[in-house]
Amino acid sequence: MADNAIEQLKSLITEIETAAPETSEAVEQFRIRFLGSKNIIKPLMGEIRNVPNEQKKDFGLLIKEVKATAEQKYAQLQLAVEQAAASSQAASIDLSAPGEPLDSGSRHPVSIVMNRIISIFERIGFTVAEEREIEDDWHNFTAMNTPEDHPARDMQDTYYLKDSTSMLLRTHTSSVQARMMSAGQPPIRIIAPGRVYRNETISARSHCQFHQVEGLYIDKKVSFADMKQALLYFAREMYGPDTRIRLRPSYFPFTEPSAEMDVYWGLKDETDHRITKGTGWLEILGCGMVDPNVLENCGIDPDVYSGYAFGMGIERQAMLHYRISDIRLLFENDVRFLKQFRSAL
Ligand code: PHE
Repeated sequence: MADNAIEQLKSLITEIETAAPETSEAVEQFRIRFLGSKNIIKPLMGEIRNVPNEQKKDFGLLIKEVKATAEQKYAQLQLAVEQAAASSQAASIDLSAPGEPLDSGSRHPVSIVMNRIISIFERIGFTVAEEREIEDDWHNFTAMNTPEDHPARDMQDTYYLKDSTSMLLRTHTSSVQARMMSAGQPPIRIIAPGRVYRNETISARSHCQFHQVEGLYIDKKVSFADMKQALLYFAREMYGPDTRIRLRPSYFPFTEPSAEMDVYWGLKDETDHRITKGTGWLEILGCGMVDPNVLENCGIDPDVYSGYAFGMGIERQAMLHYRISDIRLLFENDVRFLKQFRSAL
């Protein structure tokens, strides 16, 4: 009887080793047969009673071996079943199905308009110059011919850094002019985009932060006519090939003579009347010939060199372009608003 049990156990080992169930059901049958609560090994274990004492130990080891072989085999089979399931899932992926849409975000309307202005000037040889937003008094005001007691400072009140009377948030990108001229000799032909700050009450039309693009061209024999032509080119690239411009005399401490440039917007409807104050003309930028004092302050000889400068706000142009009625929308970071603007630039 005991010999019979030994034979049976040995043949179970062979059976286990050669078993090759292919489906998960067949693997489950394997588990029930060899490892389940009513498995086939259990009744054979009882046979130990009939085994002679000196063989009991070997018999025990044989039982152990059968169990271990079954457990090992079952682990292998489980793994194989899992892998087969994973690869059949992979095979069922439809490569021609449309992909999940990727949310790529969008550019801010101010960036779109700013990039457009930059690329227009880049085409006529201007290169981008970027500078700090925290400026010192010298570069923002004094070097720009606006000394401490100058009344024009009132128009550009700003935020000073705590415990400092000389460090401030720049009020215009004209400070970049001072930095570029102090850093090198002409020819200088730069376009300077960036954020500026002023102590303004926030409303639908004005904000304490906004963006400007500054332009500066200094060389020998640069004339007012050169400036007018460059600005006409800009206006036509920006607002259409038939755009008309006009220069109105104005005042800036750092340019002499100074002007403001308007583009003709038209008076077709009520909105046109409102945004042009009934004139049909829209004010776009300030400009002028760089004041000789500014050249001198920045180490450039005004007897040899001359140049022009201009500066324009971005927000108003973006608002006109996209018909945005409240400047605050541009600074609130509301994704529902920002998502509406798409651009390649
Ligand atoms: N800095 C001026 C402003 O902020 C604009 C300007 C720039 C005017 C350059 C003339 C020349 O209003």
